[in-house]
Amino acid sequence: MKPIAAGVFLILLLSVTTTAAGTTLSSDVSALKAIKSAIDPTTIPSYSCLASWNFTSDPCSDHHVTHFLCGLSCSADRVTQLTFDRAGYAGTLSPLVSQLTQLITIDISDNKFSGQIPTSLFTLPNLQTLNLRSNSFSGTVPPIISSLKSIETLDISHNSLSGSLPDTSTSLTLTRLDLSFNNFTGPIPKLPQNLIELAIKSNFLSGLLSNISFNELNQLEVVEISNNSLTGIIPGWFFLQPALQQINLANNRFTSIEILKPINSNLIAVDAGYNEIVGDLSVTFTAYDMLSSLSLRYNKLHGPIPEEYSRKTTLRRLFLDGNYLTGMPPKGFFDGKSWVSGSFGDNCLKNCPASSQLCSKSQKPWAICRQEYGGKGKPKS
Ligand SMILES: *[C@@H]1O[C@H](CO)[C@@H](O)[C@H](O)[C@H]1NC(C)=O
Ligand SMILES: *[C@@H]1O[C@H](CO)[C@@H](O)[C@H](O)[C@H]1NC(C)=O
Ligand SMILES: *[C@@H]1O[C@H](CO)[C@@H](O)[C@H](O)[C@H]1NC(C)=O
Ligand SMILES: *[C@@H]1O[C@H](CO)[C@@H](O)[C@H](O)[C@H]1NC(C)=O
Repeated sequence: MKPIAAGVFLILLLSVTTTAAGTTLSSDVSALKAIKSAIDPTTIPSYSCLASWNFTSDPCSDHHVTHFLCGLSCSADRVTQLTFDRAGYAGTLSPLVSQLTQLITIDISDNKFSGQIPTSLFTLPNLQTLNLRSNSFSGTVPPIISSLKSIETLDISHNSLSGSLPDTSTSLTLTRLDLSFNNFTGPIPKLPQNLIELAIKSNFLSGLLSNISFNELNQLEVVEISNNSLTGIIPGWFFLQPALQQINLANNRFTSIEILKPINSNLIAVDAGYNEIVGDLSVTFTAYDMLSSLSLRYNKLHGPIPEEYSRKTTLRRLFLDGNYLTGMPPKGFFDGKSWVSGSFGDNCLKNCPASSQLCSKSQKPWAICRQEYGGKGKPKS
């Protein structure tokens, strides 16, 4: 071979091999084109990831300088991640996204996507993370969501989704589920058994806390159900779920609470404030070894604050204000050795020392307490 011919051959060989290594599967390219065209071009700023999606280049080839700078990742010739920047993209999510069958992650959070979540999305076999948080998706979530075979993190919070909560109970992979700040209604469905974090706060959920929903969730650590319309009793088994650390049930319509003695509880924080809970303040909360923060503020609790609370060394925050608690608060809170902050104000307590921050908010007027206790220091039945 002559030297010039050899050189040309080498150049040809190089260009062929680099192109072959980086050429995106054509159905992935058409899906990316459809995804970009479903977004209003006036909401794609020049500095954004999507502005750099220029299909004169190949999306997955690895030598980009000006095109496909960000917003996606590939493995060989397949797109594996869609991770958009928070540029304010508005439009819909193209149903052709389901052609990207090797997708592991979709994160288009903090944009202005609207319309229905495309049903085809839920057929993606390898999807582990779906984050649609803080967009304007509306409509219901179709039952086919239960076909997501690999899903681990599902965050569709802060949208305008309505209807009943999606049933994900058959998933064995789902560990983090956030459906908060939507317009979901109805009861809490059966939850998937390997769930670690559940957030369904600020919806319009109703019904009872049912042991069918929470059956054998042995990994469940964090439960956020605040700001809904749940009713009835907060049952004792709820606090005994073995891995539980944090529970927020505030701002619902619970009317009673049952506290059972725990064995090896990891419970650190309980907020059941702003409900309609009647009855005495249970001493059994103090048997939860790790309990550090407890709020039962703005309920309808009666009777005294048990002595044991002031002797509980793990306790740091105790909010009991806005109830009808009576008697003298335990002296241990005021001996200068207590680490507890919080509030005992707006109750019917006697001699709550105003020098203590716990008592800085004043007690209820005597007339209101007398009326609540029928003038006899005992609750009206
Ligand atoms: C895409 O890139 C080509 C080649 O660099 C350029 O001519 C074209 O204007 C680009 N298109 C857009 C929409 O930026
Ligand atoms: C969601 O609920 C809010 C507050 O009630 C309401 O203003 C809004 O119109 C509802 N959105 C949908 C999509 O139902
Ligand atoms: C409670 O939920 C409603 C409806 O979603 C919402 O508008 C409101 O901001 C929420 N309040 C809090 C304190 O989160
Ligand atoms: C749920 O609670 C009901 C009523 O308390 C009880 O009969 C049932 O056995 C419980 N089911 C489970 C799965 O724990």
